[in-house]
Amino acid sequence: MEFVTLGTSNVKVTRIIFGAWAIGGWMWGGADRKDAIKAIHKSLDLGISSIDTAPVYGFGLSEEIVGEAIKGLRTEVQILTKYGLVWDRKIGDFYFSTFNNDGKPVSIYKHAGKESIIHECEQSLSRLKTDYLDLYQIHWPAPSTPIEETMDAMNRLIKDGKIRSAGVCNYSVEEMEVAETTINLVSNQVPYSMVRRDIENDLIPWCMKHHKSILAYSPLQRGLLTGKFRTGQHFVPGDTRPDTPWFKGKNLVKTNKFLEEIKPLAISKNFTVAQLVLRWTMQMPGITTVLAGARNARQVEENAGAFNFTLTEKEMCEINLKLDRLELEL
Ligand SMILES: NC(=O)c1ccc[n+]([C@@H]2O[C@H](COP(=O)([O-])OP(=O)(O)OC[C@H]3O[C@@H](n4cnc5c(N)ncnc54)[C@H](OP(=O)(O)O)[C@@H]3O)[C@@H](O)[C@H]2O)c1
Repeated sequence: MEFVTLGTSNVKVTRIIFGAWAIGGWMWGGADRKDAIKAIHKSLDLGISSIDTAPVYGFGLSEEIVGEAIKGLRTEVQILTKYGLVWDRKIGDFYFSTFNNDGKPVSIYKHAGKESIIHECEQSLSRLKTDYLDLYQIHWPAPSTPIEETMDAMNRLIKDGKIRSAGVCNYSVEEMEVAETTINLVSNQVPYSMVRRDIENDLIPWCMKHHKSILAYSPLQRGLLTGKFRTGQHFVPGDTRPDTPWFKGKNLVKTNKFLEEIKPLAISKNFTVAQLVLRWTMQMPGITTVLAGARNARQVEENAGAFNFTLTEKEMCEINLKLDRLELEL
């Protein structure tokens, strides 16, 4: 298994990271706990030992499942989790209202004050049944908390041995620059896929220049880039994917047409389209690691296959030329 170092730290993570959002069920129309545990075990068997989760994924459930799955295996696993999306208190900036897995209304707030983070960290450690985290990341920028205060809390948690490194998610270059006045950030976790490439303009060049890792999330665009979704697809209630622009009308049709165009390349290499998509993402400049979400062992097994081949420069160019012609309405 290939490991990469986060920023200038001594924390190493795998080049594909298990994404534990869907196994929390929330925003994915539910999930099966047994399948989730098997998915994590398959991941570890195949050498994908880094796992990314968050308190808000299933309102504690994803972290709990990860904690159960890695029991007795802590030293073999790297745990990445997050803070700053709070649902058990009215605090900070209202973000949005939603429903939990039991159908009860929940309001989510963005807040990253120092005391709140210390409290959240203890809760995550307890759910994950561990006494340290390998990477701790703010989930979304919290507008009403000064970035310096948030990063001061990170320095304290590092000093206390609760976290090994501090990163961010969904931060702009400007926000990273402010954070850097207080802490040496190791990474930024951001959306990046064949159909969502805006970070190539500013964030990737900045991170490459300043030795910050990029953790690419939703590389399969929440499953769309496996090619399995069709027009008129039925989604279970609570699955938010059909509300996103990539799953709508013309975009879905155009994306599937593009996937058909790259399928011969996948077949010629004896790999699937999903594997080709993940491999392309891993090989794009500045992408340190990809977070691939999976609900079951079969998906993990397929996704891990992206390790087993490389794309030549010519093949990357061919894919990129086809992508240049893909015009989505986003
Ligand atoms: N920091 C943030 O704000 C943020 C935001 C989003 C995600 N993330 C992180 O990034 C991770 C990955 O992103 P993601 O989960 O959004 O999306 P993704 O990796 O693009 O897609 C994952 C989903 O696609 C489907 N899938 C995966 N592999 C498949 C395969 N081989 N064949 C068929 N279907 C497959 C599964 O859903 P179905 O079976 O239901 O189709 C799976 O849950 C998350 O789990 C989370 O850890 C972070």
